[in-house]
Amino acid sequence: MMQHRALLHTICYRSGAPFQTNAVLPEITVDIRPAAALPYFTITQTDGKTALRYELARHDRVYGLGEQLGGLNKRGKMYRTYNTDISPHQPHIETLYGSHPFLFITGERGFGFFLDYPSEMMFDISHTHKDILEITIPSQDFDLYLFDVSEPKQIVREYLTLTGSPYIPPKWAFGYQQCRYSYPDAETVQAIATKFRELDIPCDAIGMDIDYMVNYKVFTLDDDKFPKFAEFVAQMKTNGFRLVPILDAGVKVEPGYAIYDEGKANDYFCKDEQGEDFVAAVWPGLCHFPDFLREEVRAWWGKQYRFFTDQGIEGFWNDMNEPAIFYVPEKMKQAREKIYAILSKDDIGRELTEVGDTMELFNRREYFKAFSQRADDGRVVNHDAVHNLYAFDMTRGTAEQLKLAMPGTRYFLLSRGSYAGLHRFSGIWTGDNSSWWEHLEVNIHMLISLNFAGFFYTGADTGGFGAEVSPELMIRWMQLGMFSPLFRNHTWYGSRQQEPWSFDPETTAILRDVLRLRYAMIPYAYSEYMRAVRELRPFIAPLFFEFSGERSQQVEDQFLYGESLMIAPVYTPNARGRFVHLPESRWLRWNASRCEDRAMTVMQPDDYYVSADIHEVPMFLRENRLCVLAEPMSHVHEQPIRKLTVLGFVTNAAEFVYYEDDGASYGYRDGQCAELTIRARKTAAGIEVSCEKCEHGYALQISELACEFYDEHGKQFRSSVTL
Ligand code: GLC
Repeated sequence: MMQHRALLHTICYRSGAPFQTNAVLPEITVDIRPAAALPYFTITQTDGKTALRYELARHDRVYGLGEQLGGLNKRGKMYRTYNTDISPHQPHIETLYGSHPFLFITGERGFGFFLDYPSEMMFDISHTHKDILEITIPSQDFDLYLFDVSEPKQIVREYLTLTGSPYIPPKWAFGYQQCRYSYPDAETVQAIATKFRELDIPCDAIGMDIDYMVNYKVFTLDDDKFPKFAEFVAQMKTNGFRLVPILDAGVKVEPGYAIYDEGKANDYFCKDEQGEDFVAAVWPGLCHFPDFLREEVRAWWGKQYRFFTDQGIEGFWNDMNEPAIFYVPEKMKQAREKIYAILSKDDIGRELTEVGDTMELFNRREYFKAFSQRADDGRVVNHDAVHNLYAFDMTRGTAEQLKLAMPGTRYFLLSRGSYAGLHRFSGIWTGDNSSWWEHLEVNIHMLISLNFAGFFYTGADTGGFGAEVSPELMIRWMQLGMFSPLFRNHTWYGSRQQEPWSFDPETTAILRDVLRLRYAMIPYAYSEYMRAVRELRPFIAPLFFEFSGERSQQVEDQFLYGESLMIAPVYTPNARGRFVHLPESRWLRWNASRCEDRAMTVMQPDDYYVSADIHEVPMFLRENRLCVLAEPMSHVHEQPIRKLTVLGFVTNAAEFVYYEDDGASYGYRDGQCAELTIRARKTAAGIEVSCEKCEHGYALQISELACEFYDEHGKQFRSSVTL
């Protein structure tokens, strides 16, 4: 199934002796040419730095950079690649937790490129000058992979051929996940789980945030809070809930604590300028940081997850791995002295403003320059030069060892920090956003951009992490979250409760319907996700990937969800509708609220204002396309799906390939799956359906189809098929 096309249009332009990041698949070979031969760009190299300059045509659009704030088209802003733990995500922020230096240009001339360089780069995209794209690299050692094709789909395919197939999580991870910082003990987790089942709201996983640990020490579990953990995990699983613990990168400095002792004894930690183990503070207080650049350290780290997998845990989220640093002891000492000096005065005026500056202790660049790592070839490198690889290597080590610890079972893994290429090992979430309407909008752009970069399994903290969510924002965000492969509601300890029942009865009812609709769509989403991975094209795509019209090139707030559906989320407060562009073909509008509802309208291609009451999500089924729905369940594996409803907008002929596998193993890699090709054809007598079953070492569970087709007049045709 996972056959890749050859890389026909990719050339690597090399400058100097770049650090090998492992973003590119080791088995791939591409032509390597000197950077001086690079087409399109003007390249200037002086004082150990590089500037790449490209003149944009007036209507060129620039896409990419994965996890970044701002528009989908990146023109008009400065961006940086330097993984940073930063919150709140204010609009001017130039870098977040992940660095994905893959971009493409479309317009007068189209091409794409991936700058494989693991530290800070600046991307001035029509910011300083409206028609110039200027990239500055503080080095002359980098690889630039040029994808010399103009079609965005093909550029993405080249990039994903180079860097690998997107991660496929277990199927339960397509269910909904409930999280909070924190549900601190088993009793609370149990109460949350019970409530979901009592209220008949679907859910598959509950996140365990840092309070489950003993004093925030990674790979520990507080037995008082979670007694008989293995039993608890098993009991939760019986009820259809996976528990997903968080793991942080910093290791508390504490002799007698096994992880610290082992890391110390084996010399696994990053070194400071004196050659001592580097010390900085994160949640547990002073910590050391594993040197994940080394294979041996990655393996050691990854093996620690057995502490959990041995107790039945199947999923994890790796956090604080940019890495996040609260302070280093010396900086804290200076800050303290300065503050004491200011506060010990009686007459304080302007000096008070210095207190704020002095307290800017978090994640300072100088910390990252103050320690070093050792590569496998023995080379010592300053951490700053390979900064963006820290999370990549931590999560790579985790993934490699989870594969061994859970033989034959797909692991679930998220990482906060990331670098290009991590998409083949893990999903990512987009960090500490806020309960702001603006972040709901940005979530749409990020979903699309991250899909370009291969992060198909991604999503934001639905409802927002920081700040306080309103019921309306919660509803609208859940209505978007239901289309994110990773659909997780998460918030911090200081905010109001964000579980679906935390607002008012009407909101609970709406959110239940949203979640039921999500679950009803999992057969469609899973089929399309697997197809997108197989074909190396975004699962969530912008309109311009499919439609050539001028308006389709501009739309940033609608997206294709798989190949049949287009979604137009509502992301502004108090709106009871929104403008929507319907490109090229006719569309069947389905303002869904409940998965059982059918208020279908045929619409001609054009621009419209469509209504969307608080409980409605504007969805559109494409002409001559089908989509499948199942009965929603309380969790993904509650029971096998035997019956599907096929929804279709058929004016001529349509086809959909429904895909099934066991959802748990790696069998799909050897082709163990079943496919059901459903074909619908309009004839004088009505709409005919035919099916073709294809089973390879896996028996299709579906035995019945209930078809509901609509033609160009909105006339409904029903039929059923027994397989
Ligand atoms: C970080 C994570 C957040 C988590 C918190 C506590 O801020 O991004 O998701 O809840 O740490 O662990």
